[in-house]
Amino acid sequence: DETQEGVKGLVDAKITEVPRIFHVPQGSLTDKNSVSDLEIPIIDFATVHVDTASREAVVEKVKHVAEKWGFFQVINHGIPLNVLKEIEDGGRRFHEEDPEVKKRYFSRDFSMNKFVYNSNFDLYSASPSVNWRDTFSCYMAPDPPPPEDLPVACRDAMIEYTKHVITLGDLLFELLSEALGLKSETLKNMDCLKSVLMICNYYPPCPQPDLTMGISQHSDNSFLTILLQDNIGGLQILHQDSWVDVSPIPGALVINMGDFLQLITNDKFVSANHRVPANREGPRVSIASFFSSSALPSSTVYGPMKELVSEENPPKYRDITIKEYTDEYFVKGLDGTSYLSNIR
Ligand code: SIN
Ligand code: FE2
Repeated sequence: DETQEGVKGLVDAKITEVPRIFHVPQGSLTDKNSVSDLEIPIIDFATVHVDTASREAVVEKVKHVAEKWGFFQVINHGIPLNVLKEIEDGGRRFHEEDPEVKKRYFSRDFSMNKFVYNSNFDLYSASPSVNWRDTFSCYMAPDPPPPEDLPVACRDAMIEYTKHVITLGDLLFELLSEALGLKSETLKNMDCLKSVLMICNYYPPCPQPDLTMGISQHSDNSFLTILLQDNIGGLQILHQDSWVDVSPIPGALVINMGDFLQLITNDKFVSANHRVPANREGPRVSIASFFSSSALPSSTVYGPMKELVSEENPPKYRDITIKEYTDEYFVKGLDGTSYLSNIR
């Protein structure tokens, strides 16, 4: 029952030592990769609807980052600042509710179309340790729960933000299709835009940040992820074997390709590894919207797209259903290796 109070519950109880279950085997920051002083690319969408030439210029940039980085920050993306502020505040408000309120939503079952609050979701996977954060999650499309089933603290913000996320996702999948040299509608026609899973992470301040991680190194099991982070920072991307900080830019959103996009583009686009080390500073809040298609019939299979393979460039992956991939992804846990390598 205590675990239901989450990491925030431990911090509120004023613990000064990180419990063993959170300890990363070798210490969180001792890995072979150094920290780089590069910055991830920023793309301005202000001109995307102006004329064909301006759109093509944006598509060229999207192509470059999708192939070389897997990550970028977008500015002038069309989502109003107040909508971003409402979801950030709403997410934080829920995590800072009385524990009794949060416990009403506590579950470890993600498969339900329900608002779910939990902590240490990786507790039952093969992950070597659990992470220093609490989360809530909810499928917001195509079949969101009835509004009255969402907590008052963030209900309106979640509904409003989702509408905007779908509009931006629509544009992103068009640009990505064009970046592949294909018709704008191609990725949408493959149902990439169909399902939105919203996850709000809450990273309390950590008394011994060298011992644990906010979120372990992983790549996302989505087609695409739209991430809103607050102004604290901490997200790092693995790029050319070093960690690149994603510095917060007020009003910007972080976009990243997920494993399914790498799979269907036959490695043309990359799903990059990323992590959030634990931090003395906090709480930090982030809201990730995953376009994941887990709402599709479980028999739909995805593999490298016909248009992108040839005799010289044969398919690198076998076909797989989203369900099979997702189940294996969670059994394996976040251990820094992509499940993609298992279906090569
Ligand atoms: C995630 O990778 O899902 C979370 C990233 C973040 O909190 O910045
Ligand atoms: Fe992620």
